[in-house]
Amino acid sequence: MKISIIGTGYVGTVTGTCFAHRGNDVICVDVDPGRINKINQGIPPIYEEGLEELLKEHAGKNLEATADYDYAITNSDISFICVPTPTDASGKIDLRFIREASRSIGERLKNKSSYHVVVVKSTVVPETTEKVVTPILEQASGKKAGKDFGVGMNPEFLREGKAVYDFMNPDRIVVGADDPMAGEVIRNLYAGYTCPILTADTKTAEMIKYVSNAFLATKISFSNEVGNICKLLGIDTYKVMEGVGLDARISPHFLRSGLGFGGSCFPKDVKALVGKASEVDYEPILLKTVLEVNERQPLIALRLLKKHVPDLNGKKIAVLGLAFKNDTDDIRESRAIPLIGMLLAEGAVVTAYDPMASEHMKNVYPNISYFSNAGDALDGADACLIATEWGEFGKLNGEFGRMKSKIVIDGRRVVNPDIKGITYEGICW
Ligand code: UDX
Repeated sequence: MKISIIGTGYVGTVTGTCFAHRGNDVICVDVDPGRINKINQGIPPIYEEGLEELLKEHAGKNLEATADYDYAITNSDISFICVPTPTDASGKIDLRFIREASRSIGERLKNKSSYHVVVVKSTVVPETTEKVVTPILEQASGKKAGKDFGVGMNPEFLREGKAVYDFMNPDRIVVGADDPMAGEVIRNLYAGYTCPILTADTKTAEMIKYVSNAFLATKISFSNEVGNICKLLGIDTYKVMEGVGLDARISPHFLRSGLGFGGSCFPKDVKALVGKASEVDYEPILLKTVLEVNERQPLIALRLLKKHVPDLNGKKIAVLGLAFKNDTDDIRESRAIPLIGMLLAEGAVVTAYDPMASEHMKNVYPNISYFSNAGDALDGADACLIATEWGEFGKLNGEFGRMKSKIVIDGRRVVNPDIKGITYEGICW
């Protein structure tokens, strides 16, 4: 099929490249000339495992990037809107880019004689496609959705770092469409996938995406709640959750307790769902608590640290791990951010190390000391806190010998607690 992808951020680049790899002709549209040039040269504008190889294979062949909407819409049968949907300070979703993309596509549909389907892939709150995208497309094109053109919603469930793998090996595909023809076109695009393909209307598809993320976030906050209780009872919560997760109805995934969840999706999407519920006059107390538990976990880590170092003023505290999870340089909503904030507020001198994310954290905390390896960050420290589940932290050993006082507060259960000479505390186990 001939596909246009609007927006070459994380979702757009992965989606476009993977669709090209599946044999489609793909045109990516962006306003940023830098991104366009990179894609046309086969250089991904973002890092994602396996993406560069695929982009190199398809750029200049069945994948190209342009700023020209006319060209992209004329030469495609289906357009995916993959623009960002940030949240404002109150947690409400900002649909500015969705509106702009819808208007730009709609204006080009005016003169298009063949049937075209517009699909929202960005994460948007329920009813956005139906009540925002479709009316803008109709107004800008002067045509009728469901008759002259189709509209759909096809959420992505990609994990950062594993997005290419997830695109090629999904657990399920959700096709949202408010008219049968649009649904059929989108389903055809996924012909050949062996996973279940669920068809629904657009607002149900939008809700599935939010609820998936909210449920996974709930599993984590639930595990943190259990972990906090287990800690006080002297019970190993990882053993507990291993036993719990063996129940097929529960599954063993997303039951790791620790500092909580971060990233560009879970906190934002749970907040947006809470906001949407409030709009329709419902107070989602469970979802609000999921967020509260998540906010509290760094505080629990701090309390535990203060059990060993009661007065942090002037004390050197090493924070190992700044990214929101391992294998990424992304610090969005990283639990290390509130943790470092609290340490600084207590007067601690913070040293930090992360294998990939230090440069980004320098924008948030320019005045703490960053090191290029864990040993140097630990040198002379009064205690250390592990904030990210990087595999290499599991191999640390002799490095702890460089600390003034070998107190290790592990927020991710990665350090070996049996290392000789260290005082080890897991935050909720
Ligand atoms: C997530 C979803 O997994 C993905 O389907 C969706 O499309 C986007 O959001 P991502 O943000 O890349 O993906 O990260 P993920 O691997 O899910 O981890 C999110 C956060 O949860 C991380 O901060 C991680 O440390 C934390 N986490 C994860 C836990 O604290 N415990 C767990 O058991 C699992």
